[in-house]
Parts: sequence; structure tokens; C-alpha cells
Amino acid sequence: MAAQLQRPHAAMVCLLLCCLGSGVSIPDPRQREALIQLEASMQTGGQMVLTDAEQRLDTHLYKMKQEEMARADFPPAMHFFRARNLIRTSPIFSLLQKMPKGGALHIHDFAMVDVEWVVKNVTYRPHCYMCYTDNQSIRFIFSSQWPKTLPLCSPWILLESLRAKMINATDLDNSIMRNLTLFTDQDPEAVYPSQDVVWDRFEQTFKAVWGLVTYAPVFKDYFYQGLTRFYMDNVMYLELRALLPEVYELDGSTHGKAWALKTYQDVARQFTDRHPDFFGVRIILTVHRGVNMSVMTGVVEEAMKLQKDFPDIMAGFDLVGREDRGRPLWYFRDALSMPAEKGITLPFFFHAGETDLEGTEVDQNLLDALLLNTSRIGHGFALLRHPVAKELSRKRGVAVEVCPISNQVLKLVKDLRNHPAAVLMSENHPVVISSDDPAMFGISGLSYDFYEAFVGFGGIKSHISSLKQLALNSIRYSSLSPKQQQEALALWQRRWNKFVSENDF
Ligand SMILES: *[C@@H]1O[C@H](CO)[C@@H](O)[C@H](O)[C@H]1NC(C)=O
Ligand SMILES: *[C@@H]1O[C@H](CO)[C@@H](O)[C@H](O)[C@H]1NC(C)=O
Ligand SMILES: *[C@@H]1O[C@H](CO)[C@@H](O)[C@H](O)[C@H]1NC(C)=O
Ligand SMILES: *[C@@H]1O[C@H](CO)[C@@H](O)[C@H](O)[C@H]1NC(C)=O
Ligand SMILES: *[C@@H]1O[C@H](CO)[C@@H](O)[C@H](O)[C@H]1NC(C)=O
Ligand SMILES: *[C@@H]1O[C@H](CO)[C@@H](O)[C@H](O)[C@H]1NC(C)=O
Ligand SMILES: [Zn+2]
Repeated sequence: MAAQLQRPHAAMVCLLLCCLGSGVSIPDPRQREALIQLEASMQTGGQMVLTDAEQRLDTHLYKMKQEEMARADFPPAMHFFRARNLIRTSPIFSLLQKMPKGGALHIHDFAMVDVEWVVKNVTYRPHCYMCYTDNQSIRFIFSSQWPKTLPLCSPWILLESLRAKMINATDLDNSIMRNLTLFTDQDPEAVYPSQDVVWDRFEQTFKAVWGLVTYAPVFKDYFYQGLTRFYMDNVMYLELRALLPEVYELDGSTHGKAWALKTYQDVARQFTDRHPDFFGVRIILTVHRGVNMSVMTGVVEEAMKLQKDFPDIMAGFDLVGREDRGRPLWYFRDALSMPAEKGITLPFFFHAGETDLEGTEVDQNLLDALLLNTSRIGHGFALLRHPVAKELSRKRGVAVEVCPISNQVLKLVKDLRNHPAAVLMSENHPVVISSDDPAMFGISGLSYDFYEAFVGFGGIKSHISSLKQLALNSIRYSSLSPKQQQEALALWQRRWNKFVSENDF
């Protein structure tokens, strides 16, 4: 059904163009207008019918956008780290914050909460130790006894005693924060001159936060705080890519994946009980693409078991880590085909095409993801270069999870007006907007990425219908069952109506 809606006008285009007969020197203005209307109707949200109140809001948004686009320092054209404060003061941004955005479908487990909370709350808890690595990073552990020294790290320092000796711990806290995020006040182009440098630092931030967030009490609180960040940003549903790592207690004992998943389920229930207008969370189990075949086989087997034991919260499976450096999907084809061969359901949500290495093994991930029946495509940055993959994605309704700020910070695109998703949205390709690793980019929630998509990709021509369509897509292309989608949609519609009536100009 979606496929038919998306290509409604092929015949009409022909009709209009064929009428531009020979011998006519000045094109007919009515034909011109018809072509303009035709193009407008093809974009994301282009066929949506608006209420009067929505139209008034749209007119207001249009005026705000004209003013924003007239600025010399146009945020989507700048590196996000320079643009962040400009965006914060933008009236369009404050409206986007209030807007019910539906679900965030591409978020990673340990990048949900701002580093301020991690440092001010987590590292101030008792029994927290830190060491300095030989490459200017840090590692943490909570322990009831003095922990054993890590390889390539200094002896452990108990943070409580270190801070007690200081008159002022602000500088220490700030340096810890800088280790946990890519965000910087300095010139981002100078700090991160290449993809290799930025990915290296990116991976270091995850290693640095690891010992904090895999400590059982923090594991729970961090997730609750993460849900709070998205809820405050008017996101009502989350699909979280989660490693479900080994979680440890103060005495060094550990828990496995089932415990971690059960814990997420319990915390999510607690959260939705307290916030009935939050719809919930589902988990996509992830594994690093650097692992070998036998590890991958074991994890896929475990994923199938979790999918069976926790059908409510488990959404499926994915691979994470830098695509350009890790193994391609095709390498793991035997392990990834196991569920289909055994007749067991394990939906896939593959990261694919987060690359500009056209024509390499890694670049085949897009087609391979589709061959493996992926339910959505994470990033799909390279999709425009793969017409067959693009057509399959459209036909099968395999939505592309677009994360604008992530792609810019990780150096796939400089000026977000040139992001490939601008093309996808001009033809209503199934897309959703997400924020990938907000904490690493110095933000929380989803609104900054919505801003970049709305103001950057769409330019002046995207409007309230584009926003509405993106929110609807996030429910339509979620892993929720049709019945749950109906419920989520009804909840979203109530929140949307309230938003529109509260912003009636
Ligand atoms: C950290 O946050 C939790 C709530 O999530 C709170 O109970 C606790 O007191 C806080 N701890 C510190 C040291 O701020
Ligand atoms: C330090 O950096 C090197 C090269 O980037 C890396 O191989 C090594 O694992 C890093 N050390 C730690 C402790 O992460
Ligand atoms: C602590 O140090 C920071 C930065 O060095 C400074 O801005 C702040 O005012 C100091 N706080 C106190 C209480 O002295
Ligand atoms: C990480 O923290 C350590 C210790 O506070 C500091 O020496 C180092 O400069 C920090 N690294 C970064 C990248 O800020
Ligand atoms: C695969 O990796 C695991 C964990 O790193 C290791 O224990 C195992 O020996 C490796 N297996 C093969 C066949 O290389
Ligand atoms: C993908 O779907 C096709 C058609 O339903 C099926 O034949 C094939 O086995 C599936 N492959 C995998 C890896 O799931
Ligand atoms: Zn991702």
C-alpha cells in the first residue's frame, strides 16, 4: 500500500512533460505551477491534509524559518559543536522540543544520559575508582576492595579520597566529562581532523564510561535517567540498541544478558507506571562487529533464546562498531542465517551504509542487510549510491534510520543541507529521524536532530506535514505489533492535538 502511495504521479509527470510540445517558446505558467505542486506532493508529508489550526502553526513556522535562513551563521551548514548554542536559542528549536516526536528508534544504551549527570552523580558515589590509561583516557570500577590494576592503566585511585584532598574539584570533574563525550568548545575540525581520529576518540568514550554504567546500581539508574531525558524531550517510545553486557556488583559477582534484559524490563515498567503518557521501550540486542565467527554464532543463539523468553521487550538483533573497520555482514552470513534456517523469528535491524567507502566489501552491507531481511536500516548513508537497495527498501517498507548529527560529527558530511536524506525526504522514502549517541555529541533527546532534518534537509520547503509524517513514521516503522501501533498512534494523536492547540498563533 505504501509503495503505491509513494509513486502516485509517474503517469502525471509524463502527461505534463509530453504536453510541453514543440514550437512553444514560453512555458505555460499553469504547467509550471502543476509541476511545482507535483514535486511538493511527492515529499515526506506532501500528501497530508492539515486542520485549520495546523495550517496556522505552519504559517508561523514558515515565517520563523525564513528568518532563520536569512542568518549569516546558518546552523545546519556549521559543525554541530559550533551550532549547538545557536540552535538552543532558535525559536524553531523550542517549538520542536515541545512537539510530540513519537519514537526514537536508533539510540545506543550507554549514550543516553548527559555526561554532567554521569560525573556529578555516578562518580560521586562511594567505592568509585579511576585509573589513567597510557593514551590519556580513563577507566573506572566500583569495588568493595582495592581492585587489581588493569593492563595499560595506572594504579587505581579512589575518587572519594582524591577529591577530599582538593580544594576545588571542578577542573577534575571537567576533565572527566571531556573523556566521556566528543563535544568540545575548541575548533572541532582541528581536534578531529579525520575519521580515524574521531572514531578512535569515540571508541575511547565508550571504554571510559564502561566501568561506571555496568555497575549494577548505576546500570538501573542510568537507564531510568535515559528514559527521563527522552520523555522530557517529548519522545514517547524508544527502541534501544543494547549490548546487554556483563553487569557487576560491588563484591565482583556478575550477571548475564537475561538479567540485564529483565532489569531493563523492570525499570521500563516502573517508568511507564509513573509516566502513563510514555508508551515504553523495546530492546535490540547488539554485538560488536569486531568479534569472530564463533562468538557471533553464540550471540545469535543467545538472541534467539532471549527473543523467545522475553517477547514483549526483545525487538531483535544488530551489529555495532565502526563499519569501515569491522567485518562485513556477509562474513557472518552463516550465523545470521541460523534463525531463518531453524524457523525461529529474530528480526534484524542492521546498521548498514554508514560509510563513504564506495565499492568496498563494507559498502555491500546495504544489499546484504536487505538480503538478510532486515526490518530497518541503521543510517543507510550510502543508500543513494545503491539504486537496487534503495528500491528494495522503498518497496518492502524497510525504513532508513537517519541520524544527522552523528553523521556530521563522525565526518561523513559537513554541511547538513547536503545530507543524502534530503533527497530521500524529497521523495517520501520511508525514513525516521534519530539521535544515535546523543551524550557523545553533547546533547540529550531527539530535538536537535529534528532541527537539523527540518531546517537543514528540508530547507524552506519542509513544513508541519513533514514533521508530522516523521513522527508518524516512527510509530509505523517501529517493531510494535499492529495492535500496539494503533494504541501508540492514538496516544501520539492526543499529544499532538494538545501541542497544536497550545501553539495556536
Ligand atoms: C544520584 O541519583 C539518584 C537518583 O537517580 C539519587 O538517588 C542519588 O542520591 C544521586 N546520588 C548522588 C551522589 O548525587
Ligand atoms: C591506546 O591506543 C591504542 C591505539 O589507538 C589502542 O590500540 C590501545 O588499545 C589504547 N589503549 C587503551 C588502554 O585503550
Ligand atoms: C572552582 O574552580 C573553577 C574553575 O577553576 C571556578 O570557576 C570555580 O569558581 C571554583 N569554585 C570555587 C568554589 O572556588
Ligand atoms: C581525561 O581525563 C584525564 C584525567 O583527568 C585527563 O588528564 C585527560 O586530559 C582527559 N582526556 C581528555 C581527552 O580530555
Ligand atoms: C574468538 O574470540 C574469542 C573471544 O575473543 C576467543 O576466546 C576465541 O578463542 C576466538 N575463537 C577463534 C576460533 O579464533
Ligand atoms: C529472507 O526472506 C526470504 C523470503 O521470505 C526467505 O526465503 C529467506 O530464507 C530469508 N532469509 C533470512 C536470512 O532470513
Ligand atoms: Zn548507531
